[in-house]
Amino acid sequence: MSRKLSFYFLIFLATICIFFLALNQRYSNYLEHRLQPILSSYIRGTYAMESVALVEIADVVEQQRRIIQKEMEDYVYPNGKYDVYANKLDDLVIEKQGNPLRSVILTTWRSGSTFLGDILNSHPANFYHYEPLLHFGIIQIRDPPLSDEALENLDSMFKCDYSSLERYLSFGRNSHPWVFNHNTYLWKQCQLHKRICWDNRFVTKFCKLFPFQSMKIVRLRLQPMEKFLEQNELGVKIVLLIRDPRGVLQSRKHRDWCPSEPDCFDPTALCSDMVSDYNTAARFSKLYPNTFRVIRYEDLSVDPYSHTEKLFEFYGLHFHENVQRFLDTHTKTDIGGLSSTFRNSKAAPFHWRNDLDFEEVEEIQQECNLAMKLWGYVFALNETHQRYFDPVTNYSLRDSEA
Ligand SMILES: *[C@@H]1O[C@H](CO)[C@@H](O)[C@H](O)[C@H]1NC(C)=O
Ligand SMILES: *[C@@H]1O[C@H](CO)[C@@H](O)[C@H](O)[C@H]1NC(C)=O
Repeated sequence: MSRKLSFYFLIFLATICIFFLALNQRYSNYLEHRLQPILSSYIRGTYAMESVALVEIADVVEQQRRIIQKEMEDYVYPNGKYDVYANKLDDLVIEKQGNPLRSVILTTWRSGSTFLGDILNSHPANFYHYEPLLHFGIIQIRDPPLSDEALENLDSMFKCDYSSLERYLSFGRNSHPWVFNHNTYLWKQCQLHKRICWDNRFVTKFCKLFPFQSMKIVRLRLQPMEKFLEQNELGVKIVLLIRDPRGVLQSRKHRDWCPSEPDCFDPTALCSDMVSDYNTAARFSKLYPNTFRVIRYEDLSVDPYSHTEKLFEFYGLHFHENVQRFLDTHTKTDIGGLSSTFRNSKAAPFHWRNDLDFEEVEEIQQECNLAMKLWGYVFALNETHQRYFDPVTNYSLRDSEA
């Protein structure tokens, strides 16, 4: 600064000081007795609340760190298998500059993703990013610009950077707790520590402790996901989960949030997405054989053990005894008696055969002709046939179909 300028600056400062001195004298009583106590107690109060929150965050994070270490004591690391070289916990933990295994299920509403999502989440030390695009509403995201925004969200989540996910967090905070309540470990701490649960500083630190991250996406179509497969520094692995459109639409009929939204109830929209996902899947399975897979819900349900084992190999996850136990208790008719959390997974995908009229089935089959042929779903011929036939046949992913 030049001398002249500094001189003027000093004069300016002096004037301000004098001004405030005068002001202070004149209003000092008022300030002291009215404003200052409020101000300083406010400052002290906020500061105290802030530091309590920070201490609580640090405590919970440390506690969870120890829980994870304990759970991972006997874990069988991939150690080179399935292209994953991690052989100790730190290799997989973001706070230690490691890279977690990121297992994505991409699908649409009512396609069996709750079942597959819970199978993945039965694996130890898993952080379940449940429907990261919930706050976008009941829509399908197919193209830019919306898909760009969605991908940015996913990227932040994969990196556990919740500082830029305030919209998602406030959606959950304001009475949509299912944003978090499928995330077992997080939700448990949230019940005990309500004050910090939706604080982005907490979720960020907490998430960075976990060696495994799973994510279920039901609002984004497959094509935009190429961004993650192309330059895959994060090592994201994606499974496309497909279900018979007749089963999907039957199941959606029972959801009250669905019937008013075209992307949800309209067979034409569902099945044109299934066709475009087929074409994309055919391309991806050639280009990204190690990071992209397809599974049909019906195949998974009929033979859950062998398909889960294969999927876990693909994801690079150990087929842990917890996972085995989950399958034992959730895929057999007679276990658990009347309890609704235990179900017969073999029958679940086929309820539509009894619950839909043949007229409804016919209408869906007309709109979904191509989608059903591509994905290997058999047409019901009449009411009687519909009740007993096997709706599933072979399919193969081929380029240049359709
Ligand atoms: C329904 O379709 C099956 C299989 O094509 C056929 O054998 C049967 O006769 C049909 N039933 C009626 C009532 O049309
Ligand atoms: C489906 O594929 C299996 C195994 O490749 C084969 O044994 C079976 O005959 C095929 N079924 C049909 C209907 O093409």
